[in-house]
Amino acid sequence: MQQNNLIKTEAYVNGKWLKATSGKTFDVTNPATGEVIAAVPDMSREEVRQAIDAADRAWPAYRDMTAKERSALMRRWFDLIMEHKEELARIMTIESGKVLTESLGEVSYGASFVEWFAEEAKRAYGDVIPPPTKDRRLVVIKQSIGVVAAITPWNFPLAMITRKVGPALVAGSPVLIKPPSETPLTGLAIAALAEQAGFPPGVYNTITTTDSKGIGKELCENPKVRKLSFTGSTPVGKVLMSQCASTLKKLSLELGGNAPFIVFDDADVDAAVKGAIVSKFRHNGQTCVCVNRLLVQEKIYDEFVEKFSRAVAELKIGNGLDKSVQLGPLISEKAIEKVTEHVEDAVSKGARVTYGGERMKGLFYKPTVLADATADMIIAREEVFGPVAPVFRFSTEDEAIKMANDTQYGLASYFYSQDVNRCWRVAEALEYGMVGINEGLISTEVAPFGGIKESGFGREGSKYGMDYFMEIKYLCFGGVDKP
Ligand code: SIN
Repeated sequence: MQQNNLIKTEAYVNGKWLKATSGKTFDVTNPATGEVIAAVPDMSREEVRQAIDAADRAWPAYRDMTAKERSALMRRWFDLIMEHKEELARIMTIESGKVLTESLGEVSYGASFVEWFAEEAKRAYGDVIPPPTKDRRLVVIKQSIGVVAAITPWNFPLAMITRKVGPALVAGSPVLIKPPSETPLTGLAIAALAEQAGFPPGVYNTITTTDSKGIGKELCENPKVRKLSFTGSTPVGKVLMSQCASTLKKLSLELGGNAPFIVFDDADVDAAVKGAIVSKFRHNGQTCVCVNRLLVQEKIYDEFVEKFSRAVAELKIGNGLDKSVQLGPLISEKAIEKVTEHVEDAVSKGARVTYGGERMKGLFYKPTVLADATADMIIAREEVFGPVAPVFRFSTEDEAIKMANDTQYGLASYFYSQDVNRCWRVAEALEYGMVGINEGLISTEVAPFGGIKESGFGREGSKYGMDYFMEIKYLCFGGVDKP
């Protein structure tokens, strides 16, 4: 690949760049071409234990820095990420397949969490509580939680790291990051920038491994890790939660979704088509908040399907390094198999393919629209995580809400309507952590990101994000009225 100074092929622990002691490595492959781009260390559970020890040793001195000092470190890291935006985006595209325009967007999005929390660092206020008796004074302070581990996903190789470690770092907690084995290079590149920003040794650590199960167990069960934050699938989240029970470890889980996108017959249909395209096809359908089910009211159903299918047919597919490309490859053969299974199942149960419906060469799949989708199809219940848009029909508002809520997931949801009263009613009735109203792209560092039901718990980003990475301590001063 082209010269890029941020390509790192060693893990970063305790301020040092390390190979695995076993000498083992694993390959990182470009999903658009199948080409191997790098090999990184395959670290063992013992090496992760050593990294946790180093982070724990770094904690007291880091915790004792002032919020302003930590804020300055974060600000330097933010500036460095933005300075290297193009290089980082290129690394992201070649290891994840994400198209370059979206990778550039993700670098800015990821950096925005660093900037936001650099600012929030100075505002981790506590409280003074009016006491119940004259002799007491009650105060609440917020303190750093201790070592924070972050297990992050391949679909956002940068932003899911910064969204988790941003609040931890500003609150005074060292971090240990395990990026996914598919996309470790972006995580290592921002570790190099964290090193340049000047975080003390042991405060910022990144380990690479293929032993997700063993390392996940260590991060859950090691008592020196005080908090684990995970973004990934609901089944893996459940395993981590049960493993964390042994140490009653604090946990944030950002898990799967089954996002509905409702279009009422009073909606601006063209705006809804635009919103659906953005929301469904972001990173080729491979985000946790991508639309999984389009629910369209019967009066405008045919018009919507026709306009939406036409817009889908215009999407350009290819290697994401070409700036005009809008859809890249899927991440793996397994992802292609899942998409294929969902489409075949839907077609066998009566879905009409109005566009796409077929695999292309390599890991590419044609964006697909399935009209006449019904509740008995696999795609109605499971997240497809690919470029397939099933369109369901409904007749009343109540029916739409029932259909939208008929899932164990509760991450993101969307709807389009121009009736302000309906907007309030539906927004309140949807059982989701996030609702887009006449908007298909809702993620931002200033708002709380997270789900309910089996989409997990905890919130990332926003003023709420800090609290999940801090301990609340109550101080009760007695005998204050005695001279
Ligand atoms: C995700 O897919 O997990 C994150 C999406 C986002 O932050 O918008």
